[in-house]
Amino acid sequence: MTKSTKTAKDTFAITTPLYYVNDLPHIGSAYTTMAADAIGRFERLRGKSVLSITGTDEHGLKIERTARKNERSPQEHCDLIVQGFEELWELLNIQYDRFSRTTAKAHSEIVKEFFQRVWDRGDIYLNQQKGWYCVSCEEFKEERELLTEKRCPIHTNQQVEWRDEPNYFFRLSKYQEKLEALYQERPEFILPETRRNEVLSFVSQGLQDFSISRVNLDWGFPVPADPEQTLYVWFDALLGYVTALLDADDEPTLENALSKWWPIDLHLIGKDILRFHAVYWPAMLMSADLPLPGRVFGHGFLTKDGKKMGKTLGNTIDPVELVKKYGPDAVRYYFLKEIEFGQDGDFKESRFINILNADLANDLGNLLNRTLKMALKYCQGQVPNVNGEDVPAAHPLKAIGINLGDRVAEAYQTLAFSKACEDVLALAKACNKYLDDLAPWTLYKQGETEAVAEVLYSVLESVRLAAYLLSPVVPNISTAIYQQLGFSTDFNDRAGIQDSARYLEHASWGCLKANQALGEPQPVFRRLEP
Ligand code: MSP
Repeated sequence: MTKSTKTAKDTFAITTPLYYVNDLPHIGSAYTTMAADAIGRFERLRGKSVLSITGTDEHGLKIERTARKNERSPQEHCDLIVQGFEELWELLNIQYDRFSRTTAKAHSEIVKEFFQRVWDRGDIYLNQQKGWYCVSCEEFKEERELLTEKRCPIHTNQQVEWRDEPNYFFRLSKYQEKLEALYQERPEFILPETRRNEVLSFVSQGLQDFSISRVNLDWGFPVPADPEQTLYVWFDALLGYVTALLDADDEPTLENALSKWWPIDLHLIGKDILRFHAVYWPAMLMSADLPLPGRVFGHGFLTKDGKKMGKTLGNTIDPVELVKKYGPDAVRYYFLKEIEFGQDGDFKESRFINILNADLANDLGNLLNRTLKMALKYCQGQVPNVNGEDVPAAHPLKAIGINLGDRVAEAYQTLAFSKACEDVLALAKACNKYLDDLAPWTLYKQGETEAVAEVLYSVLESVRLAAYLLSPVVPNISTAIYQQLGFSTDFNDRAGIQDSARYLEHASWGCLKANQALGEPQPVFRRLEP
């Protein structure tokens, strides 16, 4: 087996979960995907080759039953729902490189080969599985976890089902010590800290082998060693991350799949599927003797108006409706800025409108607009004749801007999106105060043209820096700002944007060139009306 040839320095592979296709995408799927997109865009901005993976998890009893209920074949059903995902990603301006479907032809080959490696290791055996199964989770539950009337603690309106059947098991227990060593040696493997502690506590209770096959299920792959049984959907789904790494014309072998992008740098997931990614998945990979992913980050859950969201409660948020109403940047900004990534967070429409108006329409948009208008009037529509390097380091805006790039980069790298946005917004707020304090309109009347030039230059340059650093979150607004400042940059142009030298220049304060022709001042974000 060829081990990975990638270097940590120049490539970055990131995944969202592969979403179930029992229904159209909900806001939870959109949330993980927006976050993954922001990270992917940030890494690309600073020059890395990025492979951003999303996709769908299409096998299993849940999908089989949903298709039957809708009087479709499972494949027809999957194809239909997949379109809904692709449409939403387009609306949300998600740049993904691979859409991995577990029904893709190449996937079955990868699964077979992987299964064989684990089988050859002696880590799969036949045993009797008895227990309570939640079809919505596609997971066995401990009796003590269940709510009254044997309902699932996650899908509270669903009753679990009793199973007593022969299944193939994976020897998870064999990997107890190796997993514990992994968590100790690589504390960043599970993030954030609270999630890591959950896993440590779960693992310390002793790991049980888990069943990786089902009987009486057609919709899935036959177990290679025993075609009477169907492979458990999670065993198949996690491998979808590997299949995604194949190029379109690659022969579907593990060697090809793992040759360029493996190991994946970051799996972004919600907290409900942490065990699968932080315990089962690394153990499966250890068994197959493959390198492990870099980090697994489990984010929190979204609520609406303070309440758990659910179809039965009738309070779900339709991401398509939201983005059609407010546009992609607004939706991306709200969820990434307003909710500390890792914590649970709430959506409230009135708060949504207030945040967007305050941050994007006022603090940033209006700031640019009024400064550009002054530059038109006082500086012939050009960047004032000032060299960023000549502005003293103690200048109130330069002092903030000078290491903002480093702070924001650190925030993105640790997935602290809200901190990244807040740090950038603090610069915009400082600009507004600075303009009000220095009143360039008065300086102009007093004939202080040099002072006017420095004030306007330093504000325009700060807005530029803000736009550059926010571009992973609000690429359209950042593009509009850059174009009004006289650049031809398009932050949605993947190839054009991936440039490490340009990153060093643009993520620093002072790169705006004197006398560059400015564009037409136009609102970059229109105020939202409640
Ligand atoms: N198919 C599996 C993943 C397999 S990965 C190899 C799955 N799919 S899912 O569609 O049910 O969930 C996808 C993601 O949506 C999970 O990360 C889950 O945490 C997230 N969310 C579901 N509801 C959510 C909220 N209310 N809030 C935030 N995220 C939520 O699990």
